[in-house]
Amino acid sequence: MLKVENLNVYYGGIHALRGIDIEVQEGQIVSIIGSNGAGKSTLLNAITGIVKPKEGLITYKGNEIPRTPHKIVKLGICQVPEGRLIFANLTVKDNLMMGAYLRNDKKKIEEDLEKVYQLFPRLLERINQMAGTLSGGEQQMLAMGRGLMSNPDLILLDEPSLGLAPLLVRTIFEIIEDIKKMNKTILLVEQNAYKALSIADKAYILEQGVIKKEGIAEEILQDKSILEAYLGKAH
Ligand SMILES: Nc1ncnc2c1ncn2[C@@H]1O[C@H](COP(=O)(O)OP(=O)(O)OP(=O)(O)O)[C@@H](O)[C@H]1O
Ligand SMILES: [Mg+2]
Repeated sequence: MLKVENLNVYYGGIHALRGIDIEVQEGQIVSIIGSNGAGKSTLLNAITGIVKPKEGLITYKGNEIPRTPHKIVKLGICQVPEGRLIFANLTVKDNLMMGAYLRNDKKKIEEDLEKVYQLFPRLLERINQMAGTLSGGEQQMLAMGRGLMSNPDLILLDEPSLGLAPLLVRTIFEIIEDIKKMNKTILLVEQNAYKALSIADKAYILEQGVIKKEGIAEEILQDKSILEAYLGKAH
């Protein structure tokens, strides 16, 4: 579904991504795991046209991906950015509707809104609340809900568990699995390696702009040497 080949991104003199190759199959959860500064957000931003690569080919469903963010949304790709970036002065409902701004299919939009409320009952309880007054975890739910309102086939999630309490982290990962069941494909970027591996089909380990390991997530999770070398001590 998505293929990234020999992707190289620079920020001035910093070579942030060095010859990245990844592949995401339809219906899968693919996790990219890496520590701070590894280049995870840069990779997602390059896919969605926010960052311009110096070299490399990105194809989506067999065609080269457009380089403008709104065209990418129209193709059925949505990015839920790190730090959430919700509209603080709009209500929960209005934030969700912003996710559907490129759509005209009113009836389907209403259906998708219902689905988002089913996934995140907490948002339904708070539809008229200003988004800026939501808790961190609720803002994360809102950001994911808004992403779903564009009716994407492929969802790029940038560290959805960042800064959340353990119980909420579990909830968020369960919801990601529920989203997969809605026939969505997910590219998940995470520092929480164990959680990200435990729900993924495939995983890549990114370190200083380079893919160091790739494989079936379950196998990486069983491989003590990989866990110790790249992900800190096995738990
Ligand atoms: N706009 C920018 N200008 C210059 N350097 C940047 C820019 N954005 C990112 N970088 C650098 O590129 C490298 C990769 O950053 P990136 O944000 O992709 O990492 P990350 O894996 O998402 O980290 P984190 O887990 O902390 O979010 C870092 O060294 C970062 O300082
Ligand atoms: Mg990041």
